[in-house]
Amino acid sequence: MNIGVLGTGLMGKPLAQRLLQANYSVIAYNRTLSKLAPLESLGAKIAKTPLEAIQSADVLILMLTDAKAIREVILNPETANTLHNRTVIQMGTISPDDSQTIQKEVQGRGGDYLEAPVLGSIPQAQAGTLLVMVGANESQFKQWKGLLEQFGEQPKYIGEVGTASALKLALNQLIAALTSGFALSLGLIESQGVDIAKFMEILRESALYAPTFDKKLERMRQRNFDNPNFPTKHLLKDVDLFLSQAEKSGLNTDGLKGIRNLIQQTTALGLSDSDYSALFSAIHQ
Ligand SMILES: NC(=O)c1ccc[n+]([C@@H]2O[C@H](COP(=O)([O-])OP(=O)(O)OC[C@H]3O[C@@H](n4cnc5c(N)ncnc54)[C@H](OP(=O)(O)O)[C@@H]3O)[C@@H](O)[C@H]2O)c1
Repeated sequence: MNIGVLGTGLMGKPLAQRLLQANYSVIAYNRTLSKLAPLESLGAKIAKTPLEAIQSADVLILMLTDAKAIREVILNPETANTLHNRTVIQMGTISPDDSQTIQKEVQGRGGDYLEAPVLGSIPQAQAGTLLVMVGANESQFKQWKGLLEQFGEQPKYIGEVGTASALKLALNQLIAALTSGFALSLGLIESQGVDIAKFMEILRESALYAPTFDKKLERMRQRNFDNPNFPTKHLLKDVDLFLSQAEKSGLNTDGLKGIRNLIQQTTALGLSDSDYSALFSAIHQ
């Protein structure tokens, strides 16, 4: 089986590396060709165009930014007609509506489509410990579970296409809410001169604690948001996806809109490509 990995950015690269380590035959495509060199040295074939990757692969793993990028890569006038008999496994974070629309378009071209968004970041992708959520029918899940186990030990079946995307957005809304909530409390602790160690000690013992607080504490204290695993711009993208999907469902999104403003202000500070914990800079400079 030949596996195409389309999009070898922060997350796509370690996914391709996992497959190569497990001796799968991989053909990789990335818009910016220079990002493919490390994969070529590990034995991946390199495709200069998406068409080349689609033609050589049986299954396509997509780890692209958003639905627009997916369309430009697999549903452009050159590539769309080559999807016949190909299985597309979409692993980026997109909305349930976009995922279902893309599913229909892929099926309309004679291809197969499932979604498998992930929770976790580069270290988990490298270690094969991502939480993989699968939106598919049960026979697709059975067919592709073994492959997805390369990325996470126990891929979870969620339901039909769209359900896993919705679950992923629900989780990323929590990333935004927990991080901004912690950052605001830390801002008060700092500005009131309260001992941060004591704040953390009490917080860790309480029901309010989330492990992400400790993961982001030092970055926030040092104002060091370099070398991101998940940049601010992607959190903004995901908050926007959540807002539009939640509004269609008639949910009150006022709280998240405030957080969105905060992330937007972080972007305006030039921190769009920094780690998303940089939203602390928009709270307490
Ligand atoms: N980073 C994380 O921790 C994390 C965790 C879970 C899920 N995700 C999700 O996974 C997806 C990928 O994230 P990432 O962190 O790997 O982002 P990334 O490093 O920015 O990679 C994005 C990839 O999409 C490609 N791309 C974007 N627009 C394109 C276009 N118009 N045509 C062709 N290729 C295009 C990029 O190509 P270039 O290299 O040429 O720009 C790159 O390969 C996103 O949906 C993200 O939300 C990320």
